Amino acid sequence: EDAGLLAAFEARVAADEFIEPNDWMPEAYRRTLVRQISQHAHSEIVGMLPEGNWLTRAPSLKRKAILLAKVQDEGGHGLYLYCAAETLGTSREDMIDALHSGRAKYSTIFNYPTLNWADIGAIGWLVDGAAIMNQVPLQRTSYGPYARAMVRVCKEESFHQRQGYDLLLALVNGLPEQKAMAQDALNRWWWPALMMFGPPDDNSPNSAQSIRWRIKRETNDELRQKFVDATVPQAELLGLAIPDPDLRWNEEGGHYDFGAIQWDEFYAAVRGEGPTARERITARRAAWDEGAWVRDAATAHEAKRAALAAA
Ligand code: ACO
Repeated sequence: EDAGLLAAFEARVAADEFIEPNDWMPEAYRRTLVRQISQHAHSEIVGMLPEGNWLTRAPSLKRKAILLAKVQDEGGHGLYLYCAAETLGTSREDMIDALHSGRAKYSTIFNYPTLNWADIGAIGWLVDGAAIMNQVPLQRTSYGPYARAMVRVCKEESFHQRQGYDLLLALVNGLPEQKAMAQDALNRWWWPALMMFGPPDDNSPNSAQSIRWRIKRETNDELRQKFVDATVPQAELLGLAIPDPDLRWNEEGGHYDFGAIQWDEFYAAVRGEGPTARERITARRAAWDEGAWVRDAATAHEAKRAALAAA
């Protein structure tokens, strides 16, 4: 690769300019973006499954309408992100094939089951809350199409986060049994939400280069800490206890110290171990196969339209 081009690219990144699809970029930068953006897209699409599971069992028409809108938003996020990745020269088919064959990852958080209605609240509050914490800085990521996709995604995620919190507020103000459901959901989702930010910085192989290229603007541990600091007061307002006996305010550091994360559990979830992970991929493969006729019909329609336009 031409040293002059590389130096010019690095100078543009360092000056906080956006890199656009037709600009020269190092192959490793392109590969990293395809990896991260496509995995982000897969997470949005797979993320529709645990919540979609509760659409038919939402406790009221209002809650059902809200949840339906949220799940549709996630589908939209996946589509913007696949489009952003396509601007780097990869195809939708390749990305989907990578997901279905296990070559590409998706967020570990979606390998946990949604056992009851309170889980929908915990997902909105904690999972979408963690997603916002991670995605707000990505609005300033160095690749233009990814950064612009994040602007709308973040607005929608903040609605998702509020709907989850609102759902939990209703539960904690309800019967003791309902409050207990909310606590149980927090107990099960807290640690997996902290794992969403990825491995600790000293064990994150991609971080150093991604920070240098301003693909990532903050490190995994920095974002995890910010998430804990923002979320503890929200749990207090709900009257729920964070399931971490080591959690305490650190006056000197001005943040919360928290207990050790079970990284074995994280890596097992990354590897897709367990029945929920198998169920997720089976559902995605079936959706792709069952949608083949829609793609074929759209392609045939487009061919007819093009032939008519050419005639
Ligand atoms: N789930 C699954 N895999 C993960 C997770 C996670 N929570 N965290 C890290 N990994 C994977 C990485 O993808 C990487 O594997 P790869 O090289 O095969 O891609 C490996 O673990 C090592 O991690 P890092 O070196 O820290 O990887 P990276 O620099 O890509 O950081 C992160 C990971 C923070 C997730 C980053 O890719 C990112 O910010 N992505 C965009 C946000 C996103 O994808 N969010 C999805 C969940 S939010 C939602 O959809 C609602």
